[in-house]
Amino acid sequence: METIFSGIQPSGTLTLGNYLGAIQQFVELQNDNDCYFCIVDEHAITVPQERLKLRSNIRSLAALYIASGIDPETSTLFVQSEVPAHTQLGWMLQSISYIGELERMTQYKDKSAGKEAISSALLTYPSLMAADILLYNTNIVPVGDDQKQHLELTRDLAGRFNNRFNDIFTIPDIRIPKVGARIMSLQEPMKKMSKSDENEKGFISMLDEPKKIEKKIKSAVTDSEGIVKYDKENKPGVSNLLTIYSSCTGESIKSLEAKYEGKGYGDFKQGVANAVIETLKPIQDRYAELINSVKLDDILDQGAEKASFTANKTVAKAKKAMGLGRVK
Ligand code: TYM
Repeated sequence: METIFSGIQPSGTLTLGNYLGAIQQFVELQNDNDCYFCIVDEHAITVPQERLKLRSNIRSLAALYIASGIDPETSTLFVQSEVPAHTQLGWMLQSISYIGELERMTQYKDKSAGKEAISSALLTYPSLMAADILLYNTNIVPVGDDQKQHLELTRDLAGRFNNRFNDIFTIPDIRIPKVGARIMSLQEPMKKMSKSDENEKGFISMLDEPKKIEKKIKSAVTDSEGIVKYDKENKPGVSNLLTIYSSCTGESIKSLEAKYEGKGYGDFKQGVANAVIETLKPIQDRYAELINSVKLDDILDQGAEKASFTANKTVAKAKKAMGLGRVK
């Protein structure tokens, strides 16, 4: 049994990319492993957030995790800011993080590009992410492809801490899905599908109604060739739709290509839309039942308590290793 940790930011309604790149893996892993799934609200405030919107996004994300199949009986589901150990260890890890390595993170470069007021937390974000992971002696971190660089840094920081102070951290491995690690925008298929995209037609929200999903997929950018074939370089739009189709149904890309041989993009897009709707509709139904339930609060309370128990032990070890506080 391995320990698994992953987190998602409550910075807007999740996209199909979040689901296929991350949540689908979480559900797969939860039965055989000790899993921690976190709503990383402290990461969300590295860029400005509206107070009430953030609160409702936190709750909505908790409901989406469960509606997607995360079982709170077996997995620990919690809100990052309700477990103070995250920022405590985050600060310690900041003290061994170098500004140069933080500035090299592509997520930092993307999010800070062209902005005038950039918070220092946006820069130190990866040190907090490393803390999230290292607090639980995590072996495996299931994420989408865009988190690779952060995971590398986490491994570096863990090794650096172990060498410099005491060997207390487990070095975690990354787990990326074979298909669906990077779902692209429907409108600009060279760009990652993102919940912060200004063009709403570029992404499918996990809570989009079936009609809207169908419309967005039908207007997805493809090419004029009319051949359903996976070729990421020359046919990025079609390749992205094939990836989405395959991740939703489990059917291989090869077999999908065969299925649509000699058929046009109209049929193909209808197939993709149906696959996405069949994946998301049951989640949306469960979500509607959960979002206002008191049970959700109980689950998050218990999750925070359980997470704190392990996380506080790691913080105590890290403090001792660094010489913080007094001997007790
Ligand atoms: P976030 O909130 O941006 O995304 C959550 C998860 O969804 C994956 N993802 C995608 N996968 C495939 N295609 C896409 N278009 C796509 N967009 C997003 C992300 O890779 C991620 O797995 N830094 C993290 C949150 C975090 C975290 C952690 C993750 C904080 N602490 C500790 C793992 C462990 C982030 O911003 O994810």
